[in-house]
Amino acid sequence: MKRSVRIPVTFGALGVILGSVGLSLRAQDAAVDIVFASGPDDSGTVQRLVDAFNDIHDGEIRVEWRAMPAENDAHREALLADLDANPGGIDLMASDVVWTAELARSGAVEDLTDRFYDDLDRESLLAEPLRSALYRLRIWGVPWYTDAGLLFYRRDQLAASGFTAPPTTWDELGTMARQVMDDSGTAHGFVFQGADYEGGTVSAAEFIWSAGGDVMSSRVAVTGLVVTSVTEVDSISVGSAAAAAGLDIARGLIVDGVSPAEVVDFREEQALDAFASGDAVFLRGWPYAYRVLRDAGFEPDKIGVAPLPAAAGGESASCLGGFNLMVNSRSTDAEQEAAWTLLRYLASPLQQRRQALEAGLLPVLGDLYDDPELVAEVPVLGVGKAVFESQLHTRPMSPFYNLVSERIA
Ligand code: GLC
Repeated sequence: MKRSVRIPVTFGALGVILGSVGLSLRAQDAAVDIVFASGPDDSGTVQRLVDAFNDIHDGEIRVEWRAMPAENDAHREALLADLDANPGGIDLMASDVVWTAELARSGAVEDLTDRFYDDLDRESLLAEPLRSALYRLRIWGVPWYTDAGLLFYRRDQLAASGFTAPPTTWDELGTMARQVMDDSGTAHGFVFQGADYEGGTVSAAEFIWSAGGDVMSSRVAVTGLVVTSVTEVDSISVGSAAAAAGLDIARGLIVDGVSPAEVVDFREEQALDAFASGDAVFLRGWPYAYRVLRDAGFEPDKIGVAPLPAAAGGESASCLGGFNLMVNSRSTDAEQEAAWTLLRYLASPLQQRRQALEAGLLPVLGDLYDDPELVAEVPVLGVGKAVFESQLHTRPMSPFYNLVSERIA
């Protein structure tokens, strides 16, 4: 039987106790302790990966995983506050694709360009997520998982109303939603993230892009991964008629009763909850929603996943999301080395595969999208791949992105 006994000891006494029990202090001391901080780990996958890593590196590296806030803006604020108040505290951090420029410019994170080219195979990584880790021609992070906005729908309810395919335009979505609401008695047609935060900016941008508008245009000429010229964000286009038309679509969905008025307070969690509890026909969500729905007991054939609809005459547009792994520039050399070892492990094919299977996150390694077993288990990979190939858009890249986003949200 285990008992916990509290023994008040001075440091001198502690030394004697440890010495007397013959603990191998040398082996313990040699281990480098690092902290890895990322968003919440609902599926428990990150903790399992970290535990396995700690076993492999027993006596060398000890990783403590720290959960950051779920809400995106709160996550960013907590990270910036910690980097400021406790330099070198968090050694490896998950950074949203839109934080790269801000973190790199502030000097908080290491330039990983040399390590990247020495140790990783850039050809194996999806180009868009990798581009999100670039700032001023240098690489500041390594993609960890990627995200793309998708349309989830109740395949069973659509079928019951006679629809055999998901909508491809917002008008069609409205028509189908109203029909299904009538036939199946579902409370809402379409739920999405409309709250005043980063996710609201993402939704707004997707509506704007789907109508042919844009938020900002930057003249960054990119050939493959090689950025041939960099002119940072140089024109604000959110005032265009096309951008306004995109936002009108969002407003129209609410006015017409397809989306509930409450969407203006919905973040990822509330939108997904509404859909998971059977109260919505359509959901705008990130790929992990599929895993959450599966875990909530939804039969796979009840749920469909498709690209987001487009405006009439426009094209479906999906926002690139996801997180990159970055190393704290104020950590010691040994901590940075250990953080890099953990980063390489998390970005390796085996762990990327586990993360897709267990957490439902899109991997950053292109080959995994052709792995039949994985695609069968995690069907969002198939749609994700198609979206990545043609419908993906990125939010403006700027050290001042947060100011832009706040206004849009
Ligand atoms: C997801 C995306 C991230 C985005 C956020 C908005 O976490 O991966 O890129 O900024 O949602 O809420």
